[in-house]
Amino acid sequence: MTKNPVIAIDGFSSTGKSSISKVIAQKLDLIHLDTGALYRGITVYALRNHFQDQKINLTALKKDLHNIHLEFRNPQQQLVLFLNNQNINTEIRDPKVSEFVSIVAKEAEVRNFLLTTQRAMAEQGGIIMDGRDIGTVVLPNADYKFFLTASTEERTRRRVLELQSQGVNADFEEVKANLLMRDKIDSEREISPLKQAEDAILIDNTSINKEQTIDLILSYIKK
Ligand code: DC
Repeated sequence: MTKNPVIAIDGFSSTGKSSISKVIAQKLDLIHLDTGALYRGITVYALRNHFQDQKINLTALKKDLHNIHLEFRNPQQQLVLFLNNQNINTEIRDPKVSEFVSIVAKEAEVRNFLLTTQRAMAEQGGIIMDGRDIGTVVLPNADYKFFLTASTEERTRRRVLELQSQGVNADFEEVKANLLMRDKIDSEREISPLKQAEDAILIDNTSINKEQTIDLILSYIKK
């Protein structure tokens, strides 16, 4: 394994990117950064401060980005996100945040605002970062790049189980529609769309579980 490796994990929603990256970080003693959490953090701020008529006022949000301070405390393999000194770790998983996050993540100003934070965190190496554009835009020189995918049905099933485990009553078709809508917005946006980097290893985990996916990724890294 490269010393202090930089590992990029991109892919579709509910392919297990974050939970898989977290375990790999523990096994290889790396820092784990879930970049989706940063976009969710901005969305929490937007819903609190710039939500009118069931819509986020993106113009007002973009003018207000300088008032947003996002910080991971105890980043050592622990993901605790603070927004302006307040722990928002639970709130970022709220279904309402999932509903609006792709719309916020489409904005160039938002992406540029977060680009600096993400690159600064990877400077020292020894990090695994998961998201949508890590291998293509944020860290194009990463030592290892993976792109995770799985069938829509399987991803929906996983998401429904995750929501149910949080006590949220989830309807399969509604969850599937939300996933498909997010995939569409993420893949079709003009800036940094979700796509596999040319040098990324494609991993389809439709019919393998989390542990098997982790082992597969590790088999490439440990070579
Ligand atoms: O991984 P996630 O579902 O928590 O990500 C939430 C949203 O953030 C996702 O719909 C797209 C966006 N995102 C992004 O545009 N770029 C990233 N690097 C990570 C997430």
